[in-house]
Amino acid sequence: MKILFLGDIVSKVGRDIIFTYLDKIKEEEGIDFTVVNGENSAHGKGITHKIYERFKSWGIDAITLGNHAFSKKEIIDHLDECPDLIVPYNYPSGRENRQRVYEINGLRLCVANILGSAFMMENTMSAFEAMEEILYKYDADLYLVDLHAEATAEKILFGHHFSKQLIATLGTHTHVQTADERLIDGMAYISDVGMNGVYDSIIGRDIEEMERAMIKGEKTRFTLGEGPGILCAVVVTVDEQTKRATAIKRLQIRPENVV
Ligand code: FE2
Repeated sequence: MKILFLGDIVSKVGRDIIFTYLDKIKEEEGIDFTVVNGENSAHGKGITHKIYERFKSWGIDAITLGNHAFSKKEIIDHLDECPDLIVPYNYPSGRENRQRVYEINGLRLCVANILGSAFMMENTMSAFEAMEEILYKYDADLYLVDLHAEATAEKILFGHHFSKQLIATLGTHTHVQTADERLIDGMAYISDVGMNGVYDSIIGRDIEEMERAMIKGEKTRFTLGEGPGILCAVVVTVDEQTKRATAIKRLQIRPENVV
């Protein structure tokens, strides 16, 4: 079994680059199941019902979220119509923090989404406690986790701690792809899958505006970067007999003619 996981999709540029390459990647890699992190897919923050529907029409099976899960408030009214939208288990609002179990090739795959604790939202249950609860509540053969977190040390510790129980711990949120993909005890691990969004940007936002905000302390609005996109993803291979991961392959497509 091969699972494609695409990192944080940021804005229209991120959506477009996925649309451009998705079918080709799925065909070339022989993908059985596709997950994307869609928490920033609507103009850099949140997701809308329309974008969810579009992702589904492209053949995306599950959409994970993060700290910006409900930044576009309209999605809250449509949650019942979006069964494949996975809300972080420890999102601190008391909303329906659902995870999903899918049947693929006769195996039950639990796709889970958890927020990290370090430098993230306040009042979240720890990622470790959240994972223990998910393992208890959701019966499955395989568990894949989108660990939406800032700190690499927290993610690496989580990976080692749960390596024997999961088939994949895939980091998201920093928007910067790390080159530390590896197997730990038959679990695929990467600290961050990376961003699908504008290549020349500050994790998706306009560079000049971020300079004015960070260096000069100016009050700015949320302006997205413009220009060609970068695609970041991983492919996880799972042995269906042993129910363990046997490979993790990092994908990155940068725009041509950009130095
Ligand atoms: Fe995030």
